[in-house]
Amino acid sequence: MIQEITNQQLVPETFIQERIEEIRAAVGDGRAINALSGGVDSSVVTMLGHRALGPRLRTVFIENGLMREGEPERVRDMFGRLGVEVEVVDAREAFFTALSGVADPEEKREAITQTFYREVFGRLVRESGARHLLQGTILTDVDETVAGIKRQHNVFEQLGIDPQEAFGYRIVEPLLRIRKDGVRRVGRALGLPPELFERIPFPGPALAARVIGEVTPERIETVRRATAVVERRLQGTGAFQYLAILHADRVTGMRDGKRDFGRQIEVRCWDSVDARTASPTKLPFETLEALARDLLAEVPGVVSVTYNIATKPPSTIEAV
Ligand code: XMP
Repeated sequence: MIQEITNQQLVPETFIQERIEEIRAAVGDGRAINALSGGVDSSVVTMLGHRALGPRLRTVFIENGLMREGEPERVRDMFGRLGVEVEVVDAREAFFTALSGVADPEEKREAITQTFYREVFGRLVRESGARHLLQGTILTDVDETVAGIKRQHNVFEQLGIDPQEAFGYRIVEPLLRIRKDGVRRVGRALGLPPELFERIPFPGPALAARVIGEVTPERIETVRRATAVVERRLQGTGAFQYLAILHADRVTGMRDGKRDFGRQIEVRCWDSVDARTASPTKLPFETLEALARDLLAEVPGVVSVTYNIATKPPSTIEAV
């Protein structure tokens, strides 16, 4: 049973000091590695690890080919300004090979998990001589996984999986006793820039969570471009989260006077407080029209654009 530190109990400075000591105790005089995705949780862990271990922590950005446009550069620059060196590791081939031919959502998650922890990290850890991986699992990840709602990719011990046995290294989880609000407060106290906390949520399986059916480099590129349009068009709305989904089915359209059996993009834009329940934002029709115009113009092969008007539940925020 993990003992929660509630928002009322949390004193960021004390929490930071305790976690630094905990990381130092776990890693000893050895080395550790952590993967930085650029999200709030992994960014906070990076700063904690950096403070605890300095150059004995190697921070990597895994380029899995599934991230949004410009992410590796954005993350590297942001941390460069904070004095933390981030190494970008190109692992695109490993991920796309593992995802090839996989259409089932849970199998997709599993392929990503295994590639990340076993293959990519296994190799990095072996090469670097690190014995510990620092990771930003938060209490909500554990709750949702244990409740069987959605398997979060970063939860092992609570499912009876021993990372040492399964992957050959230990996992240290400094954020395990707090939730998102707490992580944000700790991040601010660590001096992370405000833009980081203002970003909308983004899922661990990245754009693979937004491709229905098989994940290929080409299909990811389609959803990546669509995501860029949706984020650009909807960023001023104040909505909780907005995203683009690529459907598996093609539909008949026409282009240049000819039949074009094309792609369908579904746009979702959610009002929500904690992502547990959500309802579609009542976007003005003009905004939807502008979205359709840009998606049709900027994303090759798209002939249909729809807006999701279902609530969560029974929908979920992501599609996979
Ligand atoms: P769902 O799709 O479960 O998403 O309604 C709830 C929130 O969690 C974010 N998120 C994830 N969703 N797999 C998911 O399906 C993940 O690994 C994951 N990580 C984060 C999602 O974007 C939404 O805000």
